[in-house]
Amino acid sequence: MVKKSRAAGRHFLQIPGPSPIPERIQQAMSRQILDHRGPEFAELATRVLRKLKTIFQTQSTVFIFPSSGTGAWEQALVNTLSPGDKVLMAETGHFAVLWRAMAENLGLEVKFLPMDWRTGVDANLIEKELRSDTSHTIKAVCMVHNETSTGCVTNIPQIRSALNATGHPALLMVDTISSVGAMDYRHDEWEVDVSIGGSQKGMMMPPGLSFSAVSPKALECSQNTCFPRSYWSWPEMNAGLDVGAFPYTPATGLIYGLDEAINLITEEGFEATFARHERLAKATRAAVSAWGLETQCRKDTDHSPAVTAVRMPDGINADAFRAHVLSTFNMSLGAGLGKVAGRVFRIGHLGDTNELTILGALAGVEMGLQNMGLSQARGGVEAAMASFSEAQSKATEKAA
Ligand SMILES: Cc1ncc(COP(=O)(O)O)c(C=O)c1O
Repeated sequence: MVKKSRAAGRHFLQIPGPSPIPERIQQAMSRQILDHRGPEFAELATRVLRKLKTIFQTQSTVFIFPSSGTGAWEQALVNTLSPGDKVLMAETGHFAVLWRAMAENLGLEVKFLPMDWRTGVDANLIEKELRSDTSHTIKAVCMVHNETSTGCVTNIPQIRSALNATGHPALLMVDTISSVGAMDYRHDEWEVDVSIGGSQKGMMMPPGLSFSAVSPKALECSQNTCFPRSYWSWPEMNAGLDVGAFPYTPATGLIYGLDEAINLITEEGFEATFARHERLAKATRAAVSAWGLETQCRKDTDHSPAVTAVRMPDGINADAFRAHVLSTFNMSLGAGLGKVAGRVFRIGHLGDTNELTILGALAGVEMGLQNMGLSQARGGVEAAMASFSEAQSKATEKAA
């Protein structure tokens, strides 16, 4: 085996999560372990749970589970539904497909609306399904807010309007795993029943924590559901949360980190954080367009502020391109997943990312594309810089 030489400089982790961890969060997590049944942890846990509500913009109950996002999908389903219940989902991309598979594995009946993986969900289709369900057999509508595999966003307020317009009582469950912390998300105002988040993307943390914001209606369902559950049980988790007590050993180190992560977002300001993500996404799209390539998301209103998926021209394998960029420029780009594997690569611009990081990443992509024979792939970095200059001028005008 050939010994690899040291790569100088820092690795560019431009996958759409896990995202790079800011120094302050790393330091917060490097503290000594504390007694998770002692007063110091109780104070930390109650503070973090209170602060987490601001991230989901909710007054409702929030839970922190030591799990990946997949665990949060499961706890949402098993705490609110019963085996055989019908749920409505839509095929936005790979993560919607996985959530559907889980629902079916659990014994739920899934009505899965087919889509082409290039847009968010059309709320009119949801409304049509709900209207035709006159006997209210659909118990939950489950949507992926930011489909990380395609870079398409579903407009959740429009989905809520579809539920309200039809007077349908189904629960609204939303996967915010790659959106929370990176884009505006309003659990209460959008009347979401269960919002599911993860630590490793917009929240700038390592993987390992999942979050759920739970409406009073969903919490009530969790008292009556017939799914057997134990580790994921909301009632058990809820029993001691007001005094900062978890039913089992909590991930104390990660909770220190979460405390600091929320501080960082609050200090930057929610609006400024979301605007930064929009700016980075817009500049990335300007680069993609200058290269003569297409984004996987084909609807202007649905572009993700967190991730841009780029379609490779026929004849160039996106995975070969990513491997080249990794070995040549020490940069990790996101892979195409599921049915777009090898056809798409993804540029993550979420979490602790700024203009210069993205310009560096785009320079790596641009050079990589040229090395792969795409000689027209030029001017992307310049287009991104122009996009940043325009944003800067607008901000200066606004401030004047
Ligand atoms: C939108 C979305 N949902 C669910 C998941 C699954 O989360 P995890 O890999 O943390 O289990 C991911 C992971 O990337 C995701 O992006």
